[in-house]
Amino acid sequence: MKVKLLLLIIGLGSYLSVSAQPLSPMDERTAERVDSVLALMTLEEKIGQMTLFTSDWAITGPTLRANYKEDILKARVGAIFNAHTATYNRELQRMAVEETRLGIPLIFGYDVIHGYKTIFPIPLGTASSWDMELVEEAARIAAVEASAAGLNWTFAPMVDIARDPRWGRIAEGAGEDPYLGSLIAQAQVKGFQGEDLSAAHTVVACVKHFAAYGAAQAGRDYHTVDMSERRLRQTYLPPYKAALDAGAGTVMTSFNELDGVPASGNSFLLKDILREEWGFEGFVVTDYTSINEMIPHGVVADLKEASELAANAGVDMDMQGAAYYDHLMNLAKEGRVSQAEIDASVRYILRMKFDLGLFDDPYRYTNEERQQEFVFSEAHRKKARDISRKSMVLLENKKNILPLTSINKIALIGPLGDASKEMLGNWYGAGDGKKAISLLEGLKEIYKGQASVQFAKGCEIDKKGDQNFTKAIKVASNSDVIVAAVGEAGWMSGEAASRSKIDFPGDQLALLKALKQTGKPLVVVLFNGRPLELNWLSEHADAVLVAWFPGTEAGTAVADILSGAYNPSGKLPVTFPRSLGQVPIFYSAKNTGRPMDKNNKYTSKYLDEDNSPLYPFGYGLSYSTFTYKDFQINGESFSMNEKIEVSALVKNTSSIDGKETVQLYVRDRVGSVTRPLRELKGFQQIELKAGEEKRVSFTLTQDDLAFYTRTMEFKAEPGMFDVWIGGDSNADLGGIFELKK
Ligand code: NOJ
Repeated sequence: MKVKLLLLIIGLGSYLSVSAQPLSPMDERTAERVDSVLALMTLEEKIGQMTLFTSDWAITGPTLRANYKEDILKARVGAIFNAHTATYNRELQRMAVEETRLGIPLIFGYDVIHGYKTIFPIPLGTASSWDMELVEEAARIAAVEASAAGLNWTFAPMVDIARDPRWGRIAEGAGEDPYLGSLIAQAQVKGFQGEDLSAAHTVVACVKHFAAYGAAQAGRDYHTVDMSERRLRQTYLPPYKAALDAGAGTVMTSFNELDGVPASGNSFLLKDILREEWGFEGFVVTDYTSINEMIPHGVVADLKEASELAANAGVDMDMQGAAYYDHLMNLAKEGRVSQAEIDASVRYILRMKFDLGLFDDPYRYTNEERQQEFVFSEAHRKKARDISRKSMVLLENKKNILPLTSINKIALIGPLGDASKEMLGNWYGAGDGKKAISLLEGLKEIYKGQASVQFAKGCEIDKKGDQNFTKAIKVASNSDVIVAAVGEAGWMSGEAASRSKIDFPGDQLALLKALKQTGKPLVVVLFNGRPLELNWLSEHADAVLVAWFPGTEAGTAVADILSGAYNPSGKLPVTFPRSLGQVPIFYSAKNTGRPMDKNNKYTSKYLDEDNSPLYPFGYGLSYSTFTYKDFQINGESFSMNEKIEVSALVKNTSSIDGKETVQLYVRDRVGSVTRPLRELKGFQQIELKAGEEKRVSFTLTQDDLAFYTRTMEFKAEPGMFDVWIGGDSNADLGGIFELKK
């Protein structure tokens, strides 16, 4: 009965966003239950609860331990990750619950990043939808599938602000902006956790990687992070805080150091900010062996010292490092880590096990019937197709070449044209590449009976010299239009996948140039996990569609856009540079004391490149065209408590119904510290019928204008502000206002 009801809600019901609030302190009853368990535990069992080991199912890091089952039986591990499916995890749970002295259930974690088996676009893709309901829904479906397959904990969302496209993990986050990133973080947490952590179809979220992992030096993964506290608080911390405000139950530390102290030993981050300032009530887990990595970081001499530093800094659970497993007992005996510190960690962890309902029914997340019913269900795949097409960003559409309606012959060319596995990108959970729909399959399905689709690969994704341009040119020459499917392989982004170049790997650019020579219209579909350098394309391609890695329904979703079945609506959550030398480049930069002046040598610019990006943050075309006019503001000057109402008239000037993301940007002209040239402060998505116009209004309050002042107070300062409303971060329609004392 319950299953049927859930099916109804998930399959048919329209999605309702859940309300969210921070994880509250334990209620009295839970505290009593937690303490009653704690009172029975030996020190070894407590350390067991603070230990997380991987199973042998998936490898997501450098070391593997072979004996995790023995550890379960000895109650020396409290949580397992990388093990999934109802049957497998039930057996592990049975061992913990039935064969250990206290029978404390295990938590099961996994990287359910953009889907469990039904795979959605990579997070940078979903972020491009700027659609919070959609983001929430993708996370919710991921949770429904994962929780049926034995899991109750996802290592997501990754909310690290990323402004360097060399960094492979830019693919896993929401891009460069703290405002957009915070909203997306909240939507993801709400989707994963729902209203009730103990419900069988939700999982607890783990906001990661705390903190500032995305600012790795030179975009190289795991590299040093160093920044001012102001930048940390202003730009990098807000999405973590937003995720916690939405109730995220766990936090993962990052691999990087911050101001010389690795995050897993950083009490400023884990105690002062997380616990004291933010009042976090869940538990903190390390990233994979990151306690051990404090040795090569060079802040401790050995693993015992590393464990001491981590435990005293506020790390509750050690992922895979066996640092606590091997050393915490002696550290406690020697008084180097107090009993109180250990008990506090165990309480946080046990509390989560109670919240998840595991003490009431340890098997509630291991249900074959639900697994069968929901995992990779028709309804979920349908949703994935919709989410995928809403996540794509149209960068060019010269002479309205798209949509491709009256054509007979399509030449699909390129190494990503028939590459179903690549469509999943990286971190694709239990996704099955063979079941993902390639662009070739998608085009054939959508254009069935209408146009033929001939395919030629042309070259490999990342190998030079291994090419067959001749066949590709022949197929292209014999067509009405070329659809070129190019970009990166799925493994080229994600963890440990930094690149020192952001160009097209292998011979792909040469292939594109050769295709251009045929004189046929050239439509380029990009599959990519990061911004790429697209100068040649922006000039020579007739259309460019950024599809990111679209997931299970890739081919149909792209074909929906190319055919006009869906009118593209995505907007970039990250700046696309003209060249790598401009990186880091982001829209909310500072003005400098010598802003660029082309006629003045001694200004802030390059000799060989413009300062502007190729495609700015917030940018994305539609088959409709929109104009912005008649900016209005409800006054010239405002006191601190007044509401500032701004609006503009947005018109769909085309003959096609479409969706626009209307964006609001603000500049604080003078501050006690320098302020960015503009900052996103709001956005709204509107549907406009052909020819229709709507007035779109935003309200700004002093909270929206607050920042960390010279004295590190978070508040708005009086002065003059610019405000703009438009379709991207270059919006030029706007006005000014004064904020008075
Ligand atoms: C390392 C990654 O940094 C982290 O994001 C992931 O959750 C863990 N490995 C577990 O796979």
